[in-house]
Amino acid sequence: MGINGLFADSKGGQTLMVGLILVAACFYAGTLFANNTPLLGIPTSSSASSSTSSLGSLSFTNRVSQTNRRTPLAIPQSGMNVCPINLNEHIPCHDPSYVKDLLPSLDLSRKEELERHCPPLEKRLFCLVPPPKDYKIPIKWPISRDYVWRSNVNHTHLAEVKGGQNWVHEKDRLWWFPGGGTHFKHGALEYIQRLGNMTTNETGDLRNAGVFQVLDVGCGVASFGAYLLPFDIQTMSFAPKDGHENQIQFALERGIGAMIAAISTKQLPYPTSSFDMVHCSRCRVDWHENDGILLREVDRLLRPDGYFVYSAPPAYRKDKDYPVIWDKLMNITTAMCWKLIAKKVQTAIWIKPGDQTCVQENVEQNLIQICDVADDSKPSWNKPLHNCVTKSGEISNPNKLPPRPERLSVYSESLSRLGISREQFATDTLFWQRQVEQYWMLMNVNKTEIRNVMDMNALWGGFAAALNSYPVWVMNVVPSTMDDTLTAIYGRGLLGAFHDWCEPFSTYPRSYDLLHASYLFSHNKGHNNNCLLEDVMLEMDRMLRPEGFIIIRDEERIMSRIKDLAPKFLWDVNSYQLRNKHNENESVLICRKKFWAIV
Ligand SMILES: *[C@@H]1O[C@H](CO)[C@@H](O)[C@H](O)[C@H]1NC(C)=O
Ligand SMILES: *[C@@H]1O[C@H](CO)[C@@H](O)[C@H](O)[C@H]1NC(C)=O
Ligand SMILES: *[C@@H]1O[C@H](CO)[C@@H](O)[C@H](O)[C@H]1NC(C)=O
Ligand SMILES: *[C@@H]1O[C@H](CO)[C@@H](O)[C@H](O)[C@H]1NC(C)=O
Ligand SMILES: *[C@@H]1O[C@H](CO)[C@@H](O)[C@H](O)[C@H]1NC(C)=O
Ligand SMILES: *[C@@H]1O[C@H](CO)[C@@H](O)[C@H](O)[C@H]1NC(C)=O
Repeated sequence: MGINGLFADSKGGQTLMVGLILVAACFYAGTLFANNTPLLGIPTSSSASSSTSSLGSLSFTNRVSQTNRRTPLAIPQSGMNVCPINLNEHIPCHDPSYVKDLLPSLDLSRKEELERHCPPLEKRLFCLVPPPKDYKIPIKWPISRDYVWRSNVNHTHLAEVKGGQNWVHEKDRLWWFPGGGTHFKHGALEYIQRLGNMTTNETGDLRNAGVFQVLDVGCGVASFGAYLLPFDIQTMSFAPKDGHENQIQFALERGIGAMIAAISTKQLPYPTSSFDMVHCSRCRVDWHENDGILLREVDRLLRPDGYFVYSAPPAYRKDKDYPVIWDKLMNITTAMCWKLIAKKVQTAIWIKPGDQTCVQENVEQNLIQICDVADDSKPSWNKPLHNCVTKSGEISNPNKLPPRPERLSVYSESLSRLGISREQFATDTLFWQRQVEQYWMLMNVNKTEIRNVMDMNALWGGFAAALNSYPVWVMNVVPSTMDDTLTAIYGRGLLGAFHDWCEPFSTYPRSYDLLHASYLFSHNKGHNNNCLLEDVMLEMDRMLRPEGFIIIRDEERIMSRIKDLAPKFLWDVNSYQLRNKHNENESVLICRKKFWAIV
């Protein structure tokens, strides 16, 4: 089943049948669709807590009950309570019922309601998020790019409103993603080729234009990012949780890297000078408002010589107030010294200059302001947007980054500023290569079983770099309480985000197949005294899909505590001895979330 085949409009029906037959064949072969029934049932009636599940031979004692986080924290003897089934898509920091109470204090003109709003600890739930009815272990990559189980994301809204733009269609028990988008209803590949033409003067593709890392703003179901993968271009896709129901959940279920976020009043959780391209295809962001403060955030995120790609009506329509918006955009971008290099069909592309002379001149003419450099050394976490331009010359590596895969071994100057030597960096890279081989042996699963991976304490990105040849994508998380090593991770061509692990992550339940937590708990303990190990375990459980893995390394005391608690979270747990960087024994826990369901 060729990618091109699926896009051929005239033969759409025919190629679709090929697709469905392939899917059907996989059912029989049983390779890509694993065992799909839960092993363990939890009855809704709390009185029947000691009976045995009819679905499997395992017994359970956990109870279904909507439970709040209390202080002091206590886990019932029967194990963690399970939240009622209606909470199966619960995202604590994007919970409409909590945000509703905050509305009077939010700046709705800037869409602040779409940003993260985490309830304080005492208002959070403290129960395991259950899977929805008929949940199935996700279809494996690469089939999942085009098909996901309908019952896993039971939302018809997007297919109803975006079916005409070929975002997603319903096909029996599956969702089918033809690869379209608002500005690429004929498929992302043709659109990507056009962008390549526009950035290279018709001489090449996006790689030739130096694009390896892309930020896709308002990504929809992330088809753009999915179709950039064959070019070895990595995309961080984000969208808010808004009227376009569950677009990020679709993206993650497809096995495409994505997270919930909104560009509104705060900096995005990514470091300065990290992307070769920022892309907005009808992303529903009012870039021209508020003096262009949102475009200054794009300017912060772009590397020198990076592109801003804008496919939206102001770039091609002359009716309504589009020409006025376009003039404002031109004014703002010109003041920041961006150069409009192409404007064609429905797309405009600007380039951010590598040379700082124009910026310097515009500062002197008071057209723009330069941000305080000191402000940029801390992780971009909960930082308000500033209406100033980040000077890129001093922050980023002045030499152009090499293409992937050579980019993976780039040692960033930012590491040297943190006191990490080239030798340490090289040793770390080798160390993680060995660990990854051992992890996969110990997990004892097919490589195709794991697609969505999160390194919760990514340090320099060694774990993700070691996974480069695996069929996975990795969200590298650098805790906001740590030094900014995420700049170095991006410098290696990898993607990630800052996060505070005392708060839930901006993702849907069951988004990840594997979580890696190397010395995360001990760090959290030393830096955050307002949350506990159990809170982080609860969030891990929420993010992880049934039968997904958690690999933990940490201090022995923490490890034995997790081992004790794991059964209460319905995790299987095994302990192994591996070698640490100093070639000493170190224990590693490999936990596996059981596949249970409310029956
Ligand atoms: C999907 O949602 C519809 C309407 O919201 C509901 O009737 C149906 O039972 C749901 N299906 C599953 C498998 O949960
Ligand atoms: C890109 O340019 C090439 C060479 O000029 C051309 O053959 C191709 O049709 C163009 N593609 C698009 C989508 O414009
Ligand atoms: C594209 O080619 C034209 C004509 O050869 C040239 O004037 C222009 O500067 C080129 N643009 C870029 C972005 O290289
Ligand atoms: C753009 O800038 C010019 C000159 O600074 C100004 O006269 C014009 O009103 C601005 N246009 C818009 C739409 O802001
Ligand atoms: C792993 O997956 C491949 C491809 O689907 C299959 O050929 C192979 O038999 C699987 N191996 C195991 C151990 O399941
Ligand atoms: C390290 O672990 C191995 C395997 O578990 C064991 O045989 C060995 O004795 C351990 N070494 C030390 C120094 O504890």
